Amino acid sequence: MLIKIKRGWELPDSAATPESVFMNRRTLLKGLATGPLLAAGAALPFAGGLGPARADDQEDPTAHLYPVEQNPAYTLDRPLTPEDFATTYNNYYEFGSYKEIWQQAQKLPIRPWTVQFDGLVEEPMEIGIDDLLAKMPLEERLYRHRCVEAWSIAVPYSGFPLKALLDFARPLGDARYLLMQTFEDDDVAEGQRQFWYPWPYIEGLTMEEAANELSFIATGYYGKPIPKQNGAPLRLAVPWKYGFKHIKGIVRFSFTEDRPVSFWEELAGNEYGFWANVNPEVSHPRWSQANEKFYGPDGMERLPTQLYNGYAEQVASLYTGMENEPLFM
Ligand code: MTE
Repeated sequence: MLIKIKRGWELPDSAATPESVFMNRRTLLKGLATGPLLAAGAALPFAGGLGPARADDQEDPTAHLYPVEQNPAYTLDRPLTPEDFATTYNNYYEFGSYKEIWQQAQKLPIRPWTVQFDGLVEEPMEIGIDDLLAKMPLEERLYRHRCVEAWSIAVPYSGFPLKALLDFARPLGDARYLLMQTFEDDDVAEGQRQFWYPWPYIEGLTMEEAANELSFIATGYYGKPIPKQNGAPLRLAVPWKYGFKHIKGIVRFSFTEDRPVSFWEELAGNEYGFWANVNPEVSHPRWSQANEKFYGPDGMERLPTQLYNGYAEQVASLYTGMENEPLFM
């Protein structure tokens, strides 16, 4: 059952999309006004014009792994968001810049799926997703999820601590950051044909953040393999940070000395920074972050935003002495 919720509050594309992207697009369209690309592009306000979703009959070979045991250390102060909502209201720009991308995302083949480890590691390697999963300690955690656009959900992820993946990857001592990268295939992800975006989607964490107990790689959702639209087969969950840090469809983990520049940071670093920690007192340049619109079983409810999205106890110490960094954008 899809819960019907009044969506009047939603940010228009122009608000939720960095201004620079709009500016670039406008300039681009102006420049192309008489060019042949406009003919193709004019029908594509953003990710419009995508073809019908291709049916995907691939059965997820990890289905038998779920449900996994819940870790009681990670519980919620609110009810879970209905599964139908969390799996049909998404952000995944590879498949379009609107919320209803779940059908488009079914085009993504998730087997075979190879994960690469490189950069500052003892030994670079590649491993198939099923071999990787067999080595990881799976558990379920209930996490809050807070998008920078001010909507929020509460969901059950299955997966493993990112720390377990770090131990598997064996980074060298001089690795300071973990860079994560999404797949690239513009045959299935037509959003990636939008060349004004800096594909592939990249995200990064400091090694200390990556090793924090809360940092989690989700492989399951609501007691089942995680759906493609939510980031199958590997997706990051760092619940004290805004949702855009939660990179989906990960194919690469790279250990670096220099801080990675993420997808959104490259587009609009003044609006979507590297740290992106949730703080009700630090507004986004174009809207307040004081409250969130929580989607629960009874529909949408406005709740006050919490510092570090309610996870200060676990993560505040990561940022001691860093007051000069823009930690909350
Ligand atoms: N990962 C990739 N590769 N591409 C994206 O567009 N969107 C991010 C994040 N991960 C995104 C992504 C944003 S803005 C949010 S809020 C969350 O995914 C949304 O996750 P959900 O759709 O599973 O709720």
